[in-house]
Amino acid sequence: MKVALLLSLLFCLGAFTECYDGMGFNPLEKLKRARQSKASVNYLTEDARNEYLPIYIGPQDGLKEADKITILPGQPNRVNFEQYSGYMTVDPEVGRALFYYFVESQNASSKPLVLWLNGGPGCSSFGSGALMELGPFRVNSDGKTLSLNDYAWTNVANVLFLESPAGVGFSYSNKTLDYKTGDQQTAADSYTFLVNWLERFPEYKTRDFFITGESYAGHYVPQLARLILQNNKITNQTTINLQGIAIGNAEIDFETEYRGMYDFFWTHALISDELHEGVTSNCNLSSEETITETCETYLDQAYAVQGNIFYYDIYVPLCNSSVASVSAFDPCSSDYVRSYLNNPEVQKSLHANVTGLPNSWDFCRFLMHLKFQYSNIVSNNYMDEELTLLPTIKELMASGVGVWIYSGDTDRRVPVTSSKYAIQKLRISVKTPWYPWYTQGEVAGYAVGYQNLTFVTVRGAGHFVPSYQPARALVFFSSFLDGKLPPTSDQN
Ligand SMILES: *[C@@H]1O[C@H](CO)[C@@H](O)[C@H](O)[C@H]1NC(C)=O
Ligand SMILES: *[C@@H]1O[C@H](CO)[C@@H](O)[C@H](O)[C@H]1NC(C)=O
Ligand SMILES: *[C@@H]1O[C@H](CO)[C@@H](O)[C@H](O)[C@H]1NC(C)=O
Ligand SMILES: *[C@@H]1O[C@H](CO)[C@@H](O)[C@H](O)[C@H]1NC(C)=O
Ligand SMILES: *[C@@H]1O[C@H](CO)[C@@H](O)[C@H](O)[C@H]1NC(C)=O
Ligand SMILES: *[C@@H]1O[C@H](CO)[C@@H](O)[C@H](O)[C@H]1NC(C)=O
Ligand SMILES: *[C@@H]1O[C@H](CO)[C@@H](O)[C@H](O)[C@H]1NC(C)=O
Repeated sequence: MKVALLLSLLFCLGAFTECYDGMGFNPLEKLKRARQSKASVNYLTEDARNEYLPIYIGPQDGLKEADKITILPGQPNRVNFEQYSGYMTVDPEVGRALFYYFVESQNASSKPLVLWLNGGPGCSSFGSGALMELGPFRVNSDGKTLSLNDYAWTNVANVLFLESPAGVGFSYSNKTLDYKTGDQQTAADSYTFLVNWLERFPEYKTRDFFITGESYAGHYVPQLARLILQNNKITNQTTINLQGIAIGNAEIDFETEYRGMYDFFWTHALISDELHEGVTSNCNLSSEETITETCETYLDQAYAVQGNIFYYDIYVPLCNSSVASVSAFDPCSSDYVRSYLNNPEVQKSLHANVTGLPNSWDFCRFLMHLKFQYSNIVSNNYMDEELTLLPTIKELMASGVGVWIYSGDTDRRVPVTSSKYAIQKLRISVKTPWYPWYTQGEVAGYAVGYQNLTFVTVRGAGHFVPSYQPARALVFFSSFLDGKLPPTSDQN
């Protein structure tokens, strides 16, 4: 237990990923690492784009019924929606299987299908996305019972939560070396998962399909969308009816992510003018440049001087603080979810962990697990990261896929400034200028309509937007599905 705690602490300080309950993300470490690994991999060569290799499709008969969840332990009595969860084999040879949780909306047949992905890399879409952000249930402070989330995205869509890549949450591989992964493998596995999932749930095959996610899913979402579009053109297997993508506080461009971060620190009174000036005049945050020692000193100070505040929402109290929370969101929620998902009864009802995984369930434990067990062979287990997704985003826009970029404006991990700088780099023209959008009689944020791209801020939300501003999140999500800009006046 002690060891696990220590490791999980080390992992959070390891600082590569979105760690829900961590305070320890250190931008400098990630910058250094990205430069070391020279992560820019243009893996989709022209050849790969034109040549379709048929993917594995497994037999799915009877598995949908087997995946149906009768009831989750501690769940409110009567719910009017169906839930499913279980494994999907994506590689039968090595024995790699991804875990999903699927919640149908009421009137499921008239609603679109939405895939939700959390980031990391290495974090769980089930524990974070479903149980703390946008799913139908939240875990109560006893770690045992659930309550309904009135603002669940499943009110307006059928939502599929995927734990990806293998090694995350309940997803696993029987071949441990397989945990050496990256953007390319993640996209390929997610695609294989989807095509198989549509065989298991064939009624969704032609349904309008959307991909959503946050943080490092700023990589996963556009990359999967790109793969779907490419394969749709050449496959004789299922084509996927992709309509749009929405990514929140998303890592989409390395240079603007970091530039925007230090500017946000400064404009939100987290660092001094001198430090900001030191960073801007001594650091080139574009990925090709090495970090000079002077720059490193400034980056180190800019991190340390901020003190111990929650990384992903600068104004909320910490879990262990005695200050009352400013929002309805309980800052200790991750403890409750961890406790709930490690309950064997809960795992049984979810059809999860059927092979007896060696590790316990955690939000983002996959890289840590690797470092711990295979430190000799895996020094850098996430192998390829595309440094900018902007060309892909342009491609998607030109293909008629709706692209939404949204941002909780009190996040400092991938702050609103980073998203704005990234969009500026796209050099696209404004159709609907910046305006306040509304819900519940309040300005819920601001929106800009560009040609084929929509940018939406959510006021007073941190990195995990639907956790902190559930009502606002549901409104913009509904607008996104409807292909409309968020409301200019209150609809309530
Ligand atoms: C992994 O191995 C276990 C134990 O042999 C087996 O039951 C399971 O089906 C394998 N998983 C996959 C996806 O093949
Ligand atoms: C479900 O769909 C039917 C037919 O489209 C409609 O009449 C009904 O109001 C819908 N119910 C809900 C809860 O959306
Ligand atoms: C699909 O294409 C692959 C590769 O060209 C081929 O081997 C396979 O027979 C085709 N399947 C069908 C059903 O046409
Ligand atoms: C940062 O480095 C890149 C790559 O060498 C270069 O193109 C860019 O002009 C530099 N930016 C600044 C502000 O010096
Ligand atoms: C809360 O936890 C953080 C991180 O573990 C620690 O640094 C801080 O001292 C704790 N604060 C209190 C009031 O216990
Ligand atoms: C899986 O189950 C085993 C007991 O069979 C347990 O020790 C382990 O923590 C569980 N792993 C996960 C990821 O839930
Ligand atoms: C917008 O989308 C249309 C197709 O729907 C395309 O013709 C046009 O080039 C796109 N514009 C941009 C700026 O992506």
